[in-house]
Amino acid sequence: MMKVEIHPEAVERVKKFSISDHQLGFGKYVAPIMIQAMYDHGEWQRFDLLPYGPIQLDPCSKVLHYGQEIFEGMKTFHQPDGSIKMFRPEQNARRFNQSARRMSMPEIPENQFLKACEVISAYCQHLVPKRLGESLYLRPFMIASEVGLGIKPSKQFLFIIVASPSGAYFSGDSVKVYIERDDIRAAQGGIGFAKTGGNYAASLKSYTKTIEAGCDQTMWLDSTHQYIEEMSGMNFMCIIDGELHTPALTDTILDGITRKSVLEIARLDNFVVREEKIAIDHLLKLIQEGRCTEAFVCGTASVICPINSFLDKDGKTYSMKEGNGKISMYLREKLISIQAGKVKAPQGWMYPVEEIKF
Ligand SMILES: Cc1ncc(COP(=O)(O)O)c(C=O)c1O
Repeated sequence: MMKVEIHPEAVERVKKFSISDHQLGFGKYVAPIMIQAMYDHGEWQRFDLLPYGPIQLDPCSKVLHYGQEIFEGMKTFHQPDGSIKMFRPEQNARRFNQSARRMSMPEIPENQFLKACEVISAYCQHLVPKRLGESLYLRPFMIASEVGLGIKPSKQFLFIIVASPSGAYFSGDSVKVYIERDDIRAAQGGIGFAKTGGNYAASLKSYTKTIEAGCDQTMWLDSTHQYIEEMSGMNFMCIIDGELHTPALTDTILDGITRKSVLEIARLDNFVVREEKIAIDHLLKLIQEGRCTEAFVCGTASVICPINSFLDKDGKTYSMKEGNGKISMYLREKLISIQAGKVKAPQGWMYPVEEIKF
């Protein structure tokens, strides 16, 4: 494994940095350091810990034209003993490389990815917020930096990690979901399962529709417009006849780490868990019949947010019986307590970050 070069200016900058605001929000503050590495001549070059700052890109860099780009989102949590731990970072490393393969980008050896995440977390230890649900959000990303307008895979790449002390995203309000019946997010054989910018750019038109309709989250259906897939940045789950249901993973759905964790927690608690196709019209019928009692969205940023209603294209609203559902909130508390080190985590979930004295 390559080590990370620590630049003294970066250490000086982060040492002096503090945040007094208690309303941290999401992505509002960013730590004054970043990890940076270049890929060239067929291999990863040095990994550096540098002061945070603008990067120079030639206007003809491939990422600016063809969107060859991937990213991750993950969190480091304060623990009761004063240490900090990352939540399932090897899952992010695995998914990053899965996205890289789909987007014709170089993989990063898992150990190197983990080391880079650990180093930036360690130098930000004093910036990891301590209240329940708060965390240091890490955003690793990779862009195609080769200069040239030819449509072909770049030979040069830039890998960066920035870190953002973040608040508990969940305000206590449950969300209203807008069912997107027209546009689709992904199709079979496409890039839906990859965490790449294009998927998010393509979701923004529906984001505007969603907000204008007075809703909070867009629900995407599959390319046949029949089956539920996910939200723009979260996966979907619901409780039907007391069982936990979620759409089965396909190449059009992002394999969420929160999704995986919630399913594992639920199975350990002897819930019946079903990963199957869910037709939207069937779900709406089950809501009306009172058989689907709860629904929620889950992802790294918000952990779990209960859904209180669905708005359909014809203007009809379907309200959940339990808009702030018992099971959703139970699963949420359980996962948050694991992340905060208040409850024993399943084997290997919490990755200790070695403390650095400086
Ligand atoms: C499209 C999409 N679906 C689902 C998720 C949830 O994934 P995770 O739980 O790994 O954050 C995310 C967020 O990363 C996402 O962007």
